[in-house]
Amino acid sequence: MRKDEQLRLLDILEDGIATGRTAFADGVMRTPASDFTCPDLLAQEQDVFFRETPLFTGLSCDLPEPGTYWADSQTGLPILMTRDEDGEFRAFANACRHRGAQVVPDGRGERPRVSCPFHAWTYNMRGDLVAVNRADSFGGIDKGQHGLVELPSAEKYGTLWVIPNPRSRETIDVDACFGELADDMENWGLGAYQHAATQVLEADVNWKLAIDTFGENYHFPVLHRDTLGPGFHGNLQTHDVMGLNYRMVFARSNFQEVAKAVPDRDQWPFRQMTLCVYFVYPNTIFLVDMGVVDVLRMFPDGTGRSRTAHSVYFTPNAADFFRRTGTDPRERFAGFNSVVQSEDYVMAASTQACAEAGIHEHFLFGRNEPALHHYHNAHRKGLGRPLLQVENS
Ligand code: FES
Ligand SMILES: [Fe+2]
Repeated sequence: MRKDEQLRLLDILEDGIATGRTAFADGVMRTPASDFTCPDLLAQEQDVFFRETPLFTGLSCDLPEPGTYWADSQTGLPILMTRDEDGEFRAFANACRHRGAQVVPDGRGERPRVSCPFHAWTYNMRGDLVAVNRADSFGGIDKGQHGLVELPSAEKYGTLWVIPNPRSRETIDVDACFGELADDMENWGLGAYQHAATQVLEADVNWKLAIDTFGENYHFPVLHRDTLGPGFHGNLQTHDVMGLNYRMVFARSNFQEVAKAVPDRDQWPFRQMTLCVYFVYPNTIFLVDMGVVDVLRMFPDGTGRSRTAHSVYFTPNAADFFRRTGTDPRERFAGFNSVVQSEDYVMAASTQACAEAGIHEHFLFGRNEPALHHYHNAHRKGLGRPLLQVENS
């Protein structure tokens, strides 16, 4: 994020702390509980969001060197992402052209070639089929026509994008995907970050409820009163709609203390005073925290279940610190999970159970929860559904 934008947001938060005012929507909004339980809606979401839409998948450092790969099946389509010998980012359907077996097990590594575990057909990092085991006994095929199926992919601002559709002929315009967020992304300098660790959280919640967890801090002083809550000014956020994407910034509870200690406002250390929460359409939450960023990708696993694929990345300074102190980056997950898995997703699961039991027809989003208004209408826009309207009272 640019410095002038940081200062503008810090002004808003300072004012909010002083006055108790947060960013408000124009009123309350209600969303049908069936949005979390309807199998027909899920089928549309699967087609549009998870087969046609470019997905923000990770950072450039997920593939740090030529010859590195990352196999990931979270979208439901096994994907092999590689950095080829020229350093170009590529993505393929991770399915062998012989009989469709997954060529590389999910995970990360570095190799010039990968060999299918079924009959040992071998592919390079450009997806070319370079060797057929016992080719003379297999029979004649044109190797040039039997490379891995390439998926649309793109890399810009240190971010990786893929459309998980082997039949797609689209190209990905990263600037169009980020829209007005492109400026922030460029200025975070993500190209210099390092991958720290990845985990997958499963929860009995619709994938949109998992996203909603990251959509307001009205709940911080209540649900997180003994964990995250004391670290932030609850019920206070900035609010910026950027096309289908969204940005909100929270103030840490040390905000005034730091402000007092640093008399020159231009020198206020933005990341020590705030937490930035971005929604990157359609399924990603991107957190800019002190020393790290988090990429959280939510995927449906049925209407009432979802997976959150969570990767943490270090700034160069934080990476040095972890190396020098010998700290295991996975330790960060313990703190994160004690909040998100043990508190947020437990609460979201009770919302899911309420929706499934048909107790309420609607759930309410307050005017102090403007991000939820945005997330749900961004998804509705994507599907061409009627938008939820604000109710003034
Ligand atoms: S399925 Fe891959 S080599 Fe046979
Ligand atoms: Fe929370």
